[in-house]
Amino acid sequence: SLIYLNGEIQPAESARISPFDRAFLFGEGIYEVCIIINGQFVDMDSHLARLDRSLGACGMTPPPERAQLPQIMHDLAHANGITNGFAYLQVTPGATPRSFTAVPQGRPTVMILAQAQDFLSAPSLSRGITVQLQPDIRWLHRDIKTTMLLPQVMAKRSALANGVDDTLFFDELGITEGSSSNVFIVEASGTLITRPLSHHLLAGCTRARIITLAQDAGMKVEERIITRDELLRAPEVFVTSATYMIVPVTSIDGHAVGDGQTGEVTKRLQDAYLDFMR
Ligand code: PDD
Repeated sequence: SLIYLNGEIQPAESARISPFDRAFLFGEGIYEVCIIINGQFVDMDSHLARLDRSLGACGMTPPPERAQLPQIMHDLAHANGITNGFAYLQVTPGATPRSFTAVPQGRPTVMILAQAQDFLSAPSLSRGITVQLQPDIRWLHRDIKTTMLLPQVMAKRSALANGVDDTLFFDELGITEGSSSNVFIVEASGTLITRPLSHHLLAGCTRARIITLAQDAGMKVEERIITRDELLRAPEVFVTSATYMIVPVTSIDGHAVGDGQTGEVTKRLQDAYLDFMR
């Protein structure tokens, strides 16, 4: 496959990144995942806006090719013949000697992958996912989309080991987010609830899109804390992310959500999201 690395689309097999790259040595990297549906990137502008925010939050400047990134992403998808799939974009400060505070002299590393995947026929869209709950052991800048993903990898592996599909995290206030998604509940009244943005969770691009689509459809959306109790009693629960899109949660720690099927409001929002992407 072809990747983009530091100015060039090139074969992944021969691409080279320094062992001194600060993402490799210190986990100092920012990333974005943006899906491609029928040749169109979904919400690319909001993903790139969040890239800028994440970079700024950890003192990195935008890479020299920042303004060309949309074109580069399109070119890369095209070069790989991908009409349905995703682009993964990673930016790091580049290579420095192994010192915590060394200031990079060279260019930042910008790496983009494009991978084919048929998101529209994912079984989870209709079947939903089962989840477990775990304390959120991550750091307190979860609004920064960093490649420092060890807690998420551990949470997802633990889910699989426990026979469920994914993990949702909670802190002392309530549900924060999923291991790679945002969480919504639907109240009996039909009102959607999701946690307000803060440094405790990532500002999901799909979360924002779903809130807009819900409001456009006349639904009420409240941003407030969801307690664990509320989550377990909610008639509908769903998660959102670029790659999940919008997926119902059918069971939590072994307790069925509602009747264990995709809820009516979740289904309406799925339809609205699919319409929006087409
Ligand atoms: N993850 N919260 C976390 C911790 C995430 O990692 C993600 C996305 C989201 C949802 O954000 P968005 O709707 O912008 O994708 C929320 C991506 C898909 C990933 O790590 O692969």
